[in-house]
Amino acid sequence: MKNGILFDKVSFSYEKGSRQLTNINIQINKGAFLGITGVNGSGKTTFTLLMNGLIPQQIKGSFKGNVYIDGINSREKPVSYFAKSVGLVFQNPDFMLFNLTVKEEIEFGLKNLQLEKHKERISKALKTISMAGYERRDPQTLSLGQKQKICLAAVLAQDPDYIVLDEPTAMLDYRSAVNLYKLLQSLNEQGKTIIIVEHDTDFLNEYTDQVIVLNQGRIALKGKTKTIFSDTKKLEKIGIKIPRLKP
Ligand SMILES: Nc1ncnc2c1ncn2[C@@H]1O[C@H](COP(=O)(O)OP(=O)(O)OP(=O)(O)O)[C@@H](O)[C@H]1O
Ligand SMILES: [Mg+2]
Repeated sequence: MKNGILFDKVSFSYEKGSRQLTNINIQINKGAFLGITGVNGSGKTTFTLLMNGLIPQQIKGSFKGNVYIDGINSREKPVSYFAKSVGLVFQNPDFMLFNLTVKEEIEFGLKNLQLEKHKERISKALKTISMAGYERRDPQTLSLGQKQKICLAAVLAQDPDYIVLDEPTAMLDYRSAVNLYKLLQSLNEQGKTIIIVEHDTDFLNEYTDQVIVLNQGRIALKGKTKTIFSDTKKLEKIGIKIPRLKP
């Protein structure tokens, strides 16, 4: 299939470490709103790093199988190629922030992707995350939650088809987290594919249409959110919070 992200018999282990992902097979269709959950160390972040070629292009290890992004094998093009279509918001914002101002930070990605209209893109993205006017701030002087929002703004400014977010709400207050999900929902309605790593199954239950539960580097459960979350016994066994079902 040409559209979407396809994992075909993917296994991966970091250079130092045992097997982190084992035999991952999944087709993520374009337009999906997919949640990924699982306990600490189950492989969620590793999974996201496979979605734009960072593994194996920049992060080395033993990689078996293939990942296809819109039909292109992730081994065959540089990360900068996939970055045009797949925007990744990292779990640790310090991984991304190294420029002197918020503006330069966001602009860095725009330049890399040779996108135009920097000023408009930057101010629109900052407005979207309720941080209008932060262009000249030094990212290092921001709170963790604000840093994470800047990382999100950098990705939004690039307007990619796929938006992959690794625990974006972990450092956000409740209102910001709800606002983020509402934003993602509207982006999804506009055709963006959203892939989000999240421990809070209530958010996944309310907003996503499909979920994957990872357990010890394997896909333990995958399918429609409502179906997966109705099997509370399995969730409990894996160590996942059972969502409060909507009344
Ligand atoms: N750079 C690395 N080198 C070696 N092992 C690693 C590296 N990064 C992660 N691991 C190991 O890979 C496994 C999966 O880690 P990963 O970060 O993908 O988990 P996670 O599900 O994202 O966890 P968390 O909920 O804590 O973010 C863990 O056992 C971890 O110790
Ligand atoms: Mg992680």
